[in-house]
Amino acid sequence: VKEAQADPMTTTRTVAERVAGLFPAARGYLNTATCGLPPEPSLRALERHLAEWREGRGGPVEWGHPVEEARALFAGLLGVPPTHVAVASQVSATVGMVAASLPAGATVLLAEGDFTSLLWPFLVQRERGVRVRVVPLAAIPDAVDDATTWVAVSAVQSADGDMVDLPALREAADRHGTRVLLNATQAAGWLPLQASAWEVLVADAYKWLLCPKGVSFAVVRPDIVPVLTPALAGWYAGGDPHANYYGTPLHLAPDATRFDVSPAWSGWAAAVPSLQLLADLGVDRVHAHAVGLADSFRGRLGLAPAGSAIVSVPAGDRAAARLHAAGVAFGMRAGAVRLGFSLYNDADDVDVAAAALE
Ligand SMILES: Cc1ncc(COP(=O)(O)O)c(C=O)c1O
Repeated sequence: VKEAQADPMTTTRTVAERVAGLFPAARGYLNTATCGLPPEPSLRALERHLAEWREGRGGPVEWGHPVEEARALFAGLLGVPPTHVAVASQVSATVGMVAASLPAGATVLLAEGDFTSLLWPFLVQRERGVRVRVVPLAAIPDAVDDATTWVAVSAVQSADGDMVDLPALREAADRHGTRVLLNATQAAGWLPLQASAWEVLVADAYKWLLCPKGVSFAVVRPDIVPVLTPALAGWYAGGDPHANYYGTPLHLAPDATRFDVSPAWSGWAAAVPSLQLLADLGVDRVHAHAVGLADSFRGRLGLAPAGSAIVSVPAGDRAAARLHAAGVAFGMRAGAVRLGFSLYNDADDVDVAAAALE
């Protein structure tokens, strides 16, 4: 990290050397905010899993090992023990479980324009008396008051890369006794985060964590474990899944693993090398690399640095066509081009995208 701070060029070189050959289709791929690319070792792990399936080898016990490896790797990236991490399937499913746990009369503060998978699970609870307030992202910390039971917000906005002021949010939540559900789907993997600072942190792994869709995590702080009802409980919720295939009584794991959902195995097989790559590089280094590229792209367009790996630029159809013609993969959101810079991007990607938009 020190080296990264001292010399951004060294960081960029280090990341480029480490990922050389791992992402053959990465040139011009600036769409990680939609879907991250898999490193080659993840595809090989998936192929091994498919061969085992085809040949009738493997099963719940063997295919459970990568789930536990992925859990431990994600925990390491977020600075918490694996027992604080639940294996999940989608953000919407985990948030739905949290929302269904709120008592009638609870008030949830949300950000306007945040991703629906975070918003709608709370909105559907209004019919049983959960109250919802929606304010602009920048107003979130100041809008927390004594009546706010939970804040649910994405650390980095999917639509445009805007970031919530995390220290201000934590400070306001502590002052008012408010709990926070932080959605790190567009942040985990490039933004250094300490999960234990938040009551619940959810993150899909198919973007900056370079895993398949369906690999998702929830970090639940130990004091919050008894507050939530594990509405998705099944054979994985009891601690040792292989001791819990049948029958009653219910005995939930004592920690956050009671919120585990039974894993869709193939995705988890591919997740391990992806998470291992991030662990080897370190999130601080990926942060310096990705934000360095994003801010240098902003500079080319005359924009001030913003410290986000996602850059949104208002643009019309002609600009989008020029980007397409230049071989750039990007997202279009509400009349703006959305570009995401990841560990497999480099200065050439900045050049090509900036030249198409300048
Ligand atoms: C901020 C954010 N949260 C969640 C999701 C996906 O939600 P789900 O896991 O429900 O598909 C996305 C997808 O783009 C996202 O950008």
